[in-house]
Amino acid sequence: MGMEEGIKDNASPPPNLRHTNQSRALLPMRGLQVFLLFFVLVLGISVVSMHMIKYLKIQTFAPSTLISPYGERDTLESFIKPPSSVWHFMNDSELLWRASMEPGIYRYSFKRVPKIAFMFLTKGPLPFAPLWERFFEGHESFYSIYVHALPNYRSGFPSSSVFYRRQIPSQPVAWGEMSMCDAERRLLANALLDISNEWFVLLSEACIPVRGFNFVYNYISRSRYSFMGSVDENGPYGRGRYSYAMGPEIGQEVVLIQLLLAKLM
Ligand SMILES: *[C@@H]1O[C@H](CO)[C@@H](O)[C@H](O)[C@H]1NC(C)=O
Repeated sequence: MGMEEGIKDNASPPPNLRHTNQSRALLPMRGLQVFLLFFVLVLGISVVSMHMIKYLKIQTFAPSTLISPYGERDTLESFIKPPSSVWHFMNDSELLWRASMEPGIYRYSFKRVPKIAFMFLTKGPLPFAPLWERFFEGHESFYSIYVHALPNYRSGFPSSSVFYRRQIPSQPVAWGEMSMCDAERRLLANALLDISNEWFVLLSEACIPVRGFNFVYNYISRSRYSFMGSVDENGPYGRGRYSYAMGPEIGQEVVLIQLLLAKLM
């Protein structure tokens, strides 16, 4: 008790008390030091990380702009060469827009072998596939094949087949409806994605080749004309289907087919 009073009365505090007073005064200073250290550390880290980001950007992003998204070098060949599968993830409006591209320079800067695009509009199976396989055999760089089947149909052609991976994304098609023309346009648009396709042949699963490939290729490539199949047939499936009530608008000739073709072009 007396001791404590003595301390209180003393003008100068005892050394241990002075020490605590000093450390109390030093506390804000040390806090400032810690803060400064922390600040410098954070600044250092952010500067380093900014440099790291810059460095990484240069390392990983800059070269990728020179390489096509398909992982190949961006050569002209990688641009011209059609993909091994004709499947894609474009919808119709995207596809038609993409297919409407054309070069602004008409002289090719590479050797272009013009191809015939054989476009099969089918329900599903191709019963005459073996015939077509024989027809196409040995003429690989002169044709391309596109198959528009009903959307849920999956063909099981082996990788050796000319029809392997030739099915394009499709929509339901009904006979005699506009969906038929949409399917034809879809086929044509897909074929236009390959810059080598020059002639376009529309076929169904009922079609069979009656001449060899060379004959067909030469005949089509040397002709100035487009070809259209039309048969004037008496009976219920030919003239029998013609309604005279349609007379004023549509003639008995194949005006309708011509109109459809005009719309396709
Ligand atoms: C196709 O996709 C684009 C973008 O997602 C969309 O704007 C367009 O309406 C679609 N077209 C059709 C026909 O679905």
